[in-house]
This record gives sequence, structure tokens and C-alpha cells, in this order.
Amino acid sequence: MSEIKNLVKVERLVGEIDIPGDKSISHRAVMFGSIANGQTLISNFLMGADCLSTVSCFRKMGVTINIEEGQVSVDGKGLAGLVEPTDILDVGNSGTTTRLMMGILAGTSFHSCIIGDESIARRPMSRVTEPLKMMGANIDGRENGQYTPISIRGGNLKGIQYQSPVASAQVKSAILLAGLQTSGEETIVTEPHKSRDHTERMLRAFGVKVQEDEKSASIVGGQSLQATNIFVPGDISSAAFFLVAGAIVPNSEIVLKNVGINPTRTGILDVLKMMGASIEIIPHNEQPFEPIADIIIKTSTLKGTTIDGDLIPKLIDEIPVIALLATQAEGETIIKDASELKVKETNRIDTVVGELTKIGAAIKATDDGMIITGKTSLVGNAVVSSHGDHRIGMMLAIASCITNEPVQLEDAGAIDVSYPNFFEHLSLLSK
Ligand code: S3P
Repeated sequence: MSEIKNLVKVERLVGEIDIPGDKSISHRAVMFGSIANGQTLISNFLMGADCLSTVSCFRKMGVTINIEEGQVSVDGKGLAGLVEPTDILDVGNSGTTTRLMMGILAGTSFHSCIIGDESIARRPMSRVTEPLKMMGANIDGRENGQYTPISIRGGNLKGIQYQSPVASAQVKSAILLAGLQTSGEETIVTEPHKSRDHTERMLRAFGVKVQEDEKSASIVGGQSLQATNIFVPGDISSAAFFLVAGAIVPNSEIVLKNVGINPTRTGILDVLKMMGASIEIIPHNEQPFEPIADIIIKTSTLKGTTIDGDLIPKLIDEIPVIALLATQAEGETIIKDASELKVKETNRIDTVVGELTKIGAAIKATDDGMIITGKTSLVGNAVVSSHGDHRIGMMLAIASCITNEPVQLEDAGAIDVSYPNFFEHLSLLSK
């Protein structure tokens, strides 16, 4: 991950790209395929390092998963069919693998041990281990179950009504997956704001009944999953980098094809509209279980805005690149209610503010977000770092498209976590 990239300003960005598969949906397709009965075929699967960590973990639990030219086949074992791994389950950099897999392992009778990289070791796990313990799972980990390494021996689970203190799809999904393994009891998870609902939608595609309302989701245990075929839409969180690039690089027009527009993920589109961007969304006619659109973005005159409340979970992963967007907007952009940023792959309040400051942005950290004042000319001649965080790396690469001097990006390899062909796409569009 210590790769250094020299990045230079671009004249304009023009053309069309097909956005790679959604990370959240790719993880879930492998996991749910593994615990379903029958064979699941997944197309447009994201071949990023995080999703490959999920594949590797489920292979270690006896699931046959074949990958050929972007198509993945998963030979499901059924909910009771996973086998005790003889090796530790290494999740790499992936929080989604860690937390959702814990929900599945909570109901197994065997022992397993989860570890990941340094970033995973810093991320809070008690938000998942605590409710799973309440349901009857035996879980331990460093500092009383707060951090990895975590060991699990599942138990006889009982349903709970859980009020999550954070809006987190990873927490909600882990509890629903554990809830699926109770014997006929109901499990309800309520959140302060609605988080992404890919688990609920995909479980339905696998034939499971899940109820969903404004801020809660519920499931009745004892239902089985039937294998299905999944087309993974393009990841709006990856598209976000080129949406911002198209808006801030002069004389640009980019067409982003096959982008997932699940309403729990489209906060970036709301923000672009609020800031006055020139954006067109063309929904596809046939909407499978996740809606898809092509999006056209053009160079825009932008104004600052306030981003907070219910909007935050809909764009939590896009905040680094939204901060960059805000440096090119007239006036102040205030991002608040976003303290979850502190427990992502890096503390993204610190890394965004620190790195954008190096290239001349007027940005300051607050307790639960940041305030950016624009419009500023970004300067180059700086060494910036991804800090091993894929989204910080991509945000800085897009920033370098408009800096007056070249920028050196350290740890550029981190980008492979979610967008392995990011630089290919960037050079394809650069004219
Ligand atoms: C994800 C949920 C979000 C998001 C992460 C992927 C998921 O995390 O930041 O990149 O796939 O469920 P939280 O659930 O912790 O908010």
C-alpha cells in the first residue's frame, strides 16, 4: 500500500465510464449466497480488495466460490451448512465484512476468530458485539469485545428489540442476520436516522420476509434463503469522485453509466443539486431490486450549503469528496452531525481537513464535521497521503486535477479497496 503516484492537473474531463459494482451490495451477495440453498450467480461483482476479503472468509467456512471474468458463482450451503474454519478469518481493511459476518457467525455452533489490518483494529466493534451478546451469542475480543481480534462461538439466539445509538447499516444488518437464526422470534432494529437498506432489499430477493419502515427494520427467525441471480449496480460512492470531478474541472462533461440510485444512498445527488450543479439523472426503465440510472455531470458554478441530520447517513462515505467540492463553491459549506466520520477507515475529519489544508483549502474541523469556505484555488507542490484510506486517496487524486502544480500521493494503493480501475478511468476521461 505504499505506492506513490505523481498527479498532475488536467485540462478537462470528457467521456463515458461504467461505474464498478457497489461494494455494499457485492459483500452482501457473497454472504447471502453462501447461506442460501442453491447456486447464486453474481454479475458486475466488485473485484476490490474488501469484497475479495469476504470471498476468502466464506471459502474458509467451506463455501465454493468461483470467480471468472467479473461473474461470481456461490454454491450456497444453507444457514446451517457453514463449517468451522481451520484458520482465522482475515477481513483485511473491511468493516462491512467484519460486522455483517459477526451477525452470521452469532448463530453458528462452531468457533471462529476474526482479525483484520491496523485500521480494523482501531474501529469500534462493541456496537455489534453488545447486541449480539444480548441475543445469546458468545463473543469475546480485545478490551472486552470492543476491538479485533474477536472470537465467536455462536449460541441459541433469541429475538430482541434493539434501539441502535448510531445510524449504521452494518449494525442493523448484523442484528437482522442474527435475528434470522432465532427459532421463529421477531427481531426489530430501530435507528436514529435510516441507514442504507441493501440488506433488507437483498434478503427479499433471496425470498426472506423483512419489514421496513421509516427508521426500523424487522425480521422473523427460521426463514431460509433461496439462491438467486444478482446484478450489482455501479457504486454511487465510487461515482461520487467523478461527479465531483465533472463539476469542478473546467469544460467537463462526464456520463456515468449504471449507477445505483437506492434512495438511502443518494445524498451526494441532493448535495450537488443544493449547490447548484449541472446534473441530469436518467433512470433505467427496468428497475431490479435496486434502482439504477445513468448520470450526466457538467462543469458547474457552485454555492455553499449546509449538510446535516437525515442526510448524513445517505452520504457518509462521500463526505471526503464533498469537502473537496465545497472548496470550489462560493461561500460557506457546513457539514455537521457527522461524528461517525471519526470511526471510518481513518478519522475522516482529521484526514480530510489535514490533507486538504496541505493544498490550500480553507477548511476547519469541528466536533461533528467540518466547515469549508470557498472558492479557493488549490495549490500543488505538496506531498499528500491517503493514510491507507481508499476514499481519502481518491478525493486527493480528484483534487490534483485542479491544483496549479503537481501533487504526490502517498499510499495510492489503498484505492484498490473499492475502485481498482480508478486511475484507468481518470486517464480515460482526461483530455
Ligand atoms: C456500509 C455501511 C456504512 C458505510 C460502509 C458500508 C455497509 O457503514 O460507511 O462503507 O455496507 O453496510 P456504517 O454502517 O458503519 O455507517
